[in-house]
Amino acid sequence: MPIFIDGHSSKGLTHEELEKLVDLPPDKFGVTHLELFFNKKEDRIYCVLDAPDEESIWKHHEAAGFKCDFITEVDQVKTEKTTKTEKLAILGQMSSNISHDLRNPMAVIKNSVDLLSIKYKDQFSPGVLDQISKIDRAIFSMSMMINDVLNFARTQYLHLEDHSLMNTITHSIAPIKIPQNIKITFPQKDIVLKVDGPKLESVFYNLIMNAIQSIGEMHDGEIIIKFIEKTNDKVQIKIQNSGPPIPDELLTKIFEPLFTTKQHGTGLGLPSSKNIIEQHHGTIYASNNPTTFTITLSKHIERLLSVDKN
Ligand SMILES: Nc1ncnc2c1ncn2[C@@H]1O[C@H](COP(=O)(O)OP(=O)(O)OP(=O)(O)O)[C@@H](O)[C@H]1O
Ligand SMILES: [Mg+2]
Repeated sequence: MPIFIDGHSSKGLTHEELEKLVDLPPDKFGVTHLELFFNKKEDRIYCVLDAPDEESIWKHHEAAGFKCDFITEVDQVKTEKTTKTEKLAILGQMSSNISHDLRNPMAVIKNSVDLLSIKYKDQFSPGVLDQISKIDRAIFSMSMMINDVLNFARTQYLHLEDHSLMNTITHSIAPIKIPQNIKITFPQKDIVLKVDGPKLESVFYNLIMNAIQSIGEMHDGEIIIKFIEKTNDKVQIKIQNSGPPIPDELLTKIFEPLFTTKQHGTGLGLPSSKNIIEQHHGTIYASNNPTTFTITLSKHIERLLSVDKN
C-alpha cells in the first residue's frame, strides 16, 4: 500500500495517548499508523500512514474529529533510491577506510618478501623463487584493488608531471604474467604527456587485465595499443583486444560501480579508471569490432585545470 504523511494539531492529547495509535490494526478505512513525530512547541503532530488512498485518510481523520492541514503521498521509489544511494555512500566510505588501513600491512609483506628474495637469492631453488614471484604478483594485484577502491571512493589530488605514455604502459604491465597465447603490440611512436603517472598506470593495468581476461586461455589472441595524435590538442590511446564483443546494452553500464560479469570481479576497475581519466579532463568509452577502450586526453591539461580554478 502507498505511504502518506499528514500533519494536524494534537488537540491536547498527550504523546502517550497518541503513540498508542501505532500499535493499532488498520481501522475501517484501511489506515494504519506507522510512525508519529511531535512538534511540542507548536502542538503539532505528523503521522506516517499506510493507507489505500488519500481519501481514506481524510475519512479516517473526519471520523476521529481531526482536521488535516495536508496529506502527501511519499514517493516510495524515490525513498528507496535515496536509501540505496546513502547505503552505497556509507559502504564506499567504509571500504575506502579499510583499503587505506590495509596499505601498511601490505607494505610490510611486500618489503619482507623483497628482503627475503634479495638476501637468500642464491640459496633459493627455482621452485621457491617461482613461489616468491607469485606472492609478489598477488601483492601487486591486491594493491591495485586497493587503489581502485580509493580512486573510486575519494577524489585525490593529481600529481602532474611529464610522462612517456610508452613507459607508463610498460610499467603498468610489468607485474602481469602475460599468458603465452596473447601477443601485445605496442605503438611505434611514443608520446609524452603531463599526467599523474601512477594513476594512469592503474588505468592501463585495469584495461589490459580486462583485455587478457576477455581473451581467455582457450585461443590465441592479441592486444593492440595505439597512440593517436589528433589535430585539436588531443591524444587518443586505444586498447583493442581480439576477445568477444561487449553486448551493446552493456557498453556504458560496464563503467557503473560494482557492475561485473566475473565470478571474482569487484566491478570497480572501470569506474575507478573513468574517475581518474575524468580528473584529467579526459574521456573514456568502450566500443566493439574490435573490442576497444578509447581514452582521450589533452596535451595541455594545465590550461584546463587553470580554467577550473578561475
Ligand atoms: N575488454 C573487455 N572485453 C569484454 N568485456 C569487458 C572488457 N573490459 C571490461 N569488460 C566488462 O566490464 C565489466 C566491468 O569491468 P571492471 O574492470 O570494472 O570490473 P571487473 O573486471 O569485472 O572486476 P575487477 O576489475 O575488479 O577484476 C567486466 O566484468 C566485463 O563484463
Ligand atoms: Mg577489471
